[in-house]
Amino acid sequence: MIWQVFGILFVTAFLWKLLASLNKILSERGAIRKLPCPPGAHWLFGHQKQGPFDPGYKWLLDTVKAFPRVFTLWQGVLPLPVLVHPDTIKPLLTGAVANTKSAFYDLFADWVGDGLVRSKSAKWKRNRRLLTHSFHLDVLRTYTPVFNDCVEVLIGKMDQLAAQGKPIDVNHELVLCTFDVILRTAFSYKSDCQVQALPKEDGIDVLSACDTMTWFIQERMFHNKLLTVPWIFRLSSGYPKYKKAFEYLRKIAKRGIQDRKKEITDKIEAGDPLTTPRDFLDTLLMAKDEDGNGFTVEEMADEVNTFMFAGHETTATSMTWLLYNLAKYPEHQTKIREEVDEILGDRDSDRIITKDLNRMAYTTLVMKESMRMMTAGPLVSRVLTAPYTIDGVTLPVGTMLGISIHQLHHNPSVWGEDHMEFKPSRFLPENLAKMDPFAFLSFSAGSRNCIGQQFALNKIKVFVARILRRFRLSLVPGDPAPVANMTVVSKPVIPLYIRLQQINGKS
Ligand code: HEM
Repeated sequence: MIWQVFGILFVTAFLWKLLASLNKILSERGAIRKLPCPPGAHWLFGHQKQGPFDPGYKWLLDTVKAFPRVFTLWQGVLPLPVLVHPDTIKPLLTGAVANTKSAFYDLFADWVGDGLVRSKSAKWKRNRRLLTHSFHLDVLRTYTPVFNDCVEVLIGKMDQLAAQGKPIDVNHELVLCTFDVILRTAFSYKSDCQVQALPKEDGIDVLSACDTMTWFIQERMFHNKLLTVPWIFRLSSGYPKYKKAFEYLRKIAKRGIQDRKKEITDKIEAGDPLTTPRDFLDTLLMAKDEDGNGFTVEEMADEVNTFMFAGHETTATSMTWLLYNLAKYPEHQTKIREEVDEILGDRDSDRIITKDLNRMAYTTLVMKESMRMMTAGPLVSRVLTAPYTIDGVTLPVGTMLGISIHQLHHNPSVWGEDHMEFKPSRFLPENLAKMDPFAFLSFSAGSRNCIGQQFALNKIKVFVARILRRFRLSLVPGDPAPVANMTVVSKPVIPLYIRLQQINGKS
C-alpha cells in the first residue's frame, strides 16, 4: 500500500513538473513568436540550413538590415531572440531589466570555474570589487615594459621574415606573442613561448592545453550541440583529452598560487613584506574585502584561468584584424606612424612608455574602427530574471537572449549605410558625441563590461606603435580577402598573411 502511495505521489510530482516546464516553454514561445522573424525557418531545422553563423557573416549582415532592432533566430526547434540595436540592448546591460548570464557560459565552467566571466549575484559583486585593483592604472603601468619586451621578440622574428622577403602569418604570431604577455603579466613567467615550445608535463603544456579547451568550447557551441548535454559530452571519445587539458590548467594555476603564497609568507617572516604587486598573481594574493578576507586558492585559480581565457585570443584576434586593416588602408598606417614618430621624437629607443599611450589619439580612432568592423567577441547572451517588453512584446522570466555585437556594429540604422566602409573618423569626439554610448560594444558596457579593456587597449597601442615604427605593412598581392569565422572569437578562416617592408626604427 505504502509503495502505491509513493508511486502515485511520484507520478503526480513528475507530471506536475512536466506540465510546468511545458507551460513555461509555451508561454516563452507564445511571446517569442510575436517578435519579428527572418523568413524561411524550417519547423525542425529552424534557420540552421540558411547558415546564420557561416564564415563571412553574410546572413547576419543581411538580417540586421531587414530586422534592425530584434529578431528571432531559430536554432533547430530552439528560439533565440537576438538584440541588435542600442535601444533593445541597453536595458539589459544597464540592469534596467534584471538578467543574468545564460547557460552558454557553462561551457567555460571546467576551465574558469566561478571566475568573473561566469560568476553571478553576490559572488560576482564581491569578486569584481576585489579584482578592480588588479586592473588599476598603477598596476597597468607596470605592464607597459612587458608589452614592449614581448613585441620586441615578435619584431625580431618579423625582421627575419622581412629579410627573407616572406610574409607573416599574423594571427599565428600574435597568438604566441599575446600568450607570452599573459604568462609574464599573470605569473612573471618568461616562457620564451614565441621562439620555442613550452616545457611539457605528461605530453601537455599550458598553450596546448588552452588551445584544446578553446577547440572543445567551439565544437560544443557551434558544431555539435549534442555535446552541450554534460553526460553525453562525458561519454564522448574526445572527453579524456578535454579533461586532461582542464585538469592540467587548474593544477598549474594552483601550483603557481601555492608557490607564490609561500614566497610572500617567507618575505613577511624575513621582515621584507611585499608592498607593490609585480603581476596579476600578486594582486590576487594582496586583495582583501572590507572584512579583511581575500580570495581562496580555488577562487584565485578561477581568476588566473579567466585571465588566460578572456585575455588571450580576444586581444590577438583584435590585433590581427587591426594589422590587416592597416595593410589594406595604408593612409591610416601612415598617419599612425607619423603620430608615433612625433611622440618618440629623437629618443634613442623606440620603447613606448605609459605616458605615451594617452597621446596616441589617431591610433585610438583606428583601433576602435577596426574593432567595430570585426569585433573579437561577436555574440554574448543573457537570461531574463524579470519580464522584458521589447517593442510591445513581453518576454517572460527565463527567456534566453542573444546580444549580437557584430550585427549591432553593422546595423545601418545605427552606423549608416556606409557601415562596411573603414572610417576611423566615426570615433572623433564630435561624432561620438552624437552616437548612442551603447552603439559601440566591443568591450560590452554596464557593470559587466570587460574588466581587461584598458589592459587590452594599452597592449594593442604598444604593439602597433612598435610594429609600424619598424615595418611598412601591405597585403600579399593575389591573396583572397580574409573571411571571419564565428568561433569563441572572430578569427580568419585560413591563415592571413601580411607583407613586411623594413623601414627605420630602433630597439
Ligand atoms: C580586445 C580584447 C578584448 C575584447 C574584445 C574583450 C571583450 C569582452 C566582452 C565583450 C566582455 C563581455 C562578455 C559578456 O558579457 O559575456 C568581456 C568581459 C570580460 N573580459 Fe574582456 N575583452 C578583451 C580583453 C580582455 C582582457 C585582456 C582581459 C583580462 C586580462 C579580459 C577579461 C575579461 C573579464 C574578466 C570579463 C568578465 C567581466 C565581468 O563579467 O565582470 N578581457 N570582455
